[in-house]
Amino acid sequence: MRLIINSVIPNMRLIISTVIGVMLGFFIGMSFPTLQFPSGIISYIEDNNSGITTLALLNRAGTSTTKNNSLLNSNGTGKIYIPSNPKGAERLAPGILRPESDLYLRRLWGNPSEDLQIQHKYLVTFTVGHDQKKNIDTAVKKFSENFTIVLFHYDGRTSEWDEFEWSKRAIHVSAKRQTKWWFAKRFLHPDIVARYEYIFIWDEDLGVEHFNAEEYIKLVRKYGLEISQPGLDPSSGLAWQMTRRMSDREVHKETEERPGWCTDPHLPPCAAFVEIMAPVFSRNAWRCVWHMIQNDLVHGWGLDLALRKCVEPAHEKIGVVDSQWIVHQVVPSLGNQGKAENGKAPWVGVRNRCRQEWGIFQARLADAEKAYYIKMGITPPNDTHA
Ligand SMILES: *[C@@H]1O[C@H](CO)[C@@H](O)[C@H](O)[C@H]1NC(C)=O
Ligand SMILES: *[C@@H]1O[C@H](CO)[C@@H](O)[C@H](O)[C@H]1NC(C)=O
Ligand SMILES: *[C@@H]1O[C@H](CO)[C@@H](O)[C@H](O)[C@H]1NC(C)=O
Ligand SMILES: *[C@@H]1O[C@H](CO)[C@@H](O)[C@H](O)[C@H]1NC(C)=O
Ligand SMILES: *[C@@H]1O[C@H](CO)[C@@H](O)[C@H](O)[C@H]1NC(C)=O
Repeated sequence: MRLIINSVIPNMRLIISTVIGVMLGFFIGMSFPTLQFPSGIISYIEDNNSGITTLALLNRAGTSTTKNNSLLNSNGTGKIYIPSNPKGAERLAPGILRPESDLYLRRLWGNPSEDLQIQHKYLVTFTVGHDQKKNIDTAVKKFSENFTIVLFHYDGRTSEWDEFEWSKRAIHVSAKRQTKWWFAKRFLHPDIVARYEYIFIWDEDLGVEHFNAEEYIKLVRKYGLEISQPGLDPSSGLAWQMTRRMSDREVHKETEERPGWCTDPHLPPCAAFVEIMAPVFSRNAWRCVWHMIQNDLVHGWGLDLALRKCVEPAHEKIGVVDSQWIVHQVVPSLGNQGKAENGKAPWVGVRNRCRQEWGIFQARLADAEKAYYIKMGITPPNDTHA
């Protein structure tokens, strides 16, 4: 105790909390001879200014033989300051930093290093309502044990899913009337999902009879696709040629649209895009796309045509997997959860909002790029198709 007070010239609070800490430590030490302090007590006596816990000081007091407190410099501030640490964490020794996470479920007991029997390499999320339970049950079974499964519930009904065995190992996130991109922005930060090599962010109304996720990933790897989707069965009515399944090949990266639609065969809608219903991202592509998702725009319209900004060259790294394909069932689901206004059906308002968001997104993207080019004093490249 005397040792600490003599050796540093800190502010009053530090001394007081240290003294209290030492006394606490003394009593705790009496009852726990091995000095295994419960973490609640440690944080309780943590000093507000230095960021150094009293425990650290206690340990020093117990082991130090000199009067030099290596944890503090002469003006009493923490000595550690590492500018290359993540912003805000500069005062922590790099060895303790864990900037990334995952969605692995862990036990409450046992040795942490033995918690995980399998470390999932891939992540699949479905944004679901209770009505699509059967369909999702079928879809989930197409994803092997190498996948972490996340369900984003937009209707608040989560407990009904427990009838499925796989539901126990799934992560359930619930927020009423929120969209896939709202959830993705909030719960799939690239640092949180950094363990996963591929991330599937899927709708709930996809028919997966001809789809197998492991086989899909093999093809994505083989063809170097950073952003992809399974081909869509043409019989389900299609918006774009690009995402239509071609039955004579494994993968395609470009296509022909109606005459006059493509200014450049390497640009959307002839190449370099996938739709937003069933995209699959590599880890690196997702890191970029997450940043491009706007916090306030929830429907994701316009995102499909802008995905190409995230990979280079886009017409080679974005593609459609034809030999693992899906059927888009076009079930109106979340769209019906809008609000009836001025005598119009709920879906009308939702659809209008989608269009409006698309316009906002395009304008923001164009403005941002223009601002950048002006700032850098360079002529924009000639690919204006946003
Ligand atoms: C800790 O420091 C912060 C910032 O200086 C201050 O706002 C806060 O009131 C302090 N807390 C305590 C418990 O002293
Ligand atoms: C205390 O440590 C600092 C740097 O770690 C060193 O420069 C100083 O000479 C030491 N003082 C004593 C009294 O050991
Ligand atoms: C503490 O001292 C170091 C050098 O001794 C100085 O660089 C630093 O700015 C000081 N910090 C404060 C908060 O005064
Ligand atoms: C899961 O991944 C492992 C390791 O890559 C692989 O050997 C295994 O076949 C995969 N499981 C399935 C069902 O494909
Ligand atoms: C960009 O397009 C315009 C008109 O289409 C053309 O005149 C110009 O030469 C192009 N610039 C480059 C760098 O290709």
